[in-house]
Amino acid sequence: MRVKRKAVDNKILTNRKAAARTQAVAVVVLAAGRGTRMKSDRAKVLHELAGKPMLLHVLDTAGTLRPERIVVVVGHQGGEVSRVVGDSARCVVQEPQLGTGHAVMQAASALRGFRGEVLVLCGDVPLLRAKTLRGLLSAHRRRGALASVLSMTVEDPSGYGRIVRSADSAALRIVEDADADPAQQHIDEVNSGIYCFDAAFLWRSLRGLGRDNAQGEYYLTDVIEAASARNAAYCRMIDDAGEGIGINSRFDLAVAEALTQDRLLSKWMDRGVTFLDPGAAYLSAGVHIGRDTVIGPNVRLEGATRIGKGCVLDGCSYLRDTVVGSAVHVRWGVVADSARIASGVNIGPYAHLRPEARLDEDVHVGNFVEVKKSRLRRGVKANHLSYIGDAEVGEGSNIGAGTITCNYDGVRKYRSSIGKRVQIGSDTQLVAPVKIGDDAYIAAGSTITSDVAAGALAFNDKRQKVREGWVAAFKRRSGRATDSKS
Ligand code: UD1
Ligand code: CA
Repeated sequence: MRVKRKAVDNKILTNRKAAARTQAVAVVVLAAGRGTRMKSDRAKVLHELAGKPMLLHVLDTAGTLRPERIVVVVGHQGGEVSRVVGDSARCVVQEPQLGTGHAVMQAASALRGFRGEVLVLCGDVPLLRAKTLRGLLSAHRRRGALASVLSMTVEDPSGYGRIVRSADSAALRIVEDADADPAQQHIDEVNSGIYCFDAAFLWRSLRGLGRDNAQGEYYLTDVIEAASARNAAYCRMIDDAGEGIGINSRFDLAVAEALTQDRLLSKWMDRGVTFLDPGAAYLSAGVHIGRDTVIGPNVRLEGATRIGKGCVLDGCSYLRDTVVGSAVHVRWGVVADSARIASGVNIGPYAHLRPEARLDEDVHVGNFVEVKKSRLRRGVKANHLSYIGDAEVGEGSNIGAGTITCNYDGVRKYRSSIGKRVQIGSDTQLVAPVKIGDDAYIAAGSTITSDVAAGALAFNDKRQKVREGWVAAFKRRSGRATDSKS
């Protein structure tokens, strides 16, 4: 039996050398755990960092290694998790969840026929960098190891598996918190939960796992000890322990979010973006910002928002899935969702762009103006207190203060079409559907219910009436002196 085992190991080692030449890598991501301490109805790995589920951060990092296959082990809320994973990896179900070793076993059939290294990652360790994984992989190969693990030193090691070495450092094993004796509990070098295994060795070792431990679980960590018995286990320390943070609670999530924001801010600063108060900016992972753009305090950029070069965002703005050209001035208090803002636009303070708002070059949208599903062509000005919905406004037109497109009759929405160089006087209502021709003038305070021809003046017949001395008479009638201030 012993001899036979040795022969199998030798075969594995020979296969390993062939695999190293082909550099084949597969990734297994563990994501079946319950995440009880999050106190959440949502699966832990779907909680977001920089607006993206933490599991997708892990899958993106894994993807940069160009693995031959990626398998995600799902369990708790597996349907939801699989939907978010989508086509980016194959999901296998672990049910019931009998520990990390048992979890990896569930990936065996999805990796049938694979020869090479299997990286095991955790869906709740999202800050790990690709560079660190590449370091682990190449050191593992260089040393001809069968199992390698990333360790880290932490201030409070409780809860983690401890890295336990024999006095001569020849033997390596991982002892879980629940199984550690008092001396082992003092060890501050811990298992990050990230590993690299030779595939054939991994499957064979997993088949031999028992669950005779404090938690009655199949421990993946026991595979390290098995490799150590073959003198082929390797432990590598993560340079930056922050990368190894495992998220178990809302507090951990907040710490990881802060680190993620720091990384994003550094990335954009490196590319020439100024943040007046970096701690008060919030960026999503998918955001893009052009060089020489200056971002003030309390700016939140979400989703697929793209900001061009040389823009100024004064502060206190929330932009989501919005595309902004170059040299745009976004003044204080602007909210934009799924809008397109061309170069040279000046917007705010306190403006609201709702989905499908489209502002062409050099448009000015001022305070308390709301734009929805409307295109404002080049040079249009809507500077004060307006609602422009379901409208098209031609080049160079001026929308006076307080202009409202009345686009909704309680049942349907209707469009307003305004030509080029149109002057709309203040406090005008355009009752849609309505069309205003090029160069037309609309007098202040008009209610426009039918189309206006190009070049025409439209106004409502509201004659002004004046009663001289009316105020004094009124106040006498109501028993008040004209000069009373109370
Ligand atoms: C595990 C390690 C421990 C290490 C720690 C790092 C073992 C036995 N222990 O401990 O040495 O310091 O991670 O965070 O491996 N999971 C499943 N199915 C299961 C159990 C877990 O998919 O049946 C997944 C979880 O979703 C999670 C990961 O495996 O992504 C780790 O599980 P967790 O329960 O957090 O492991 P620990 O007990 O903390
Ligand atoms: Ca556990």
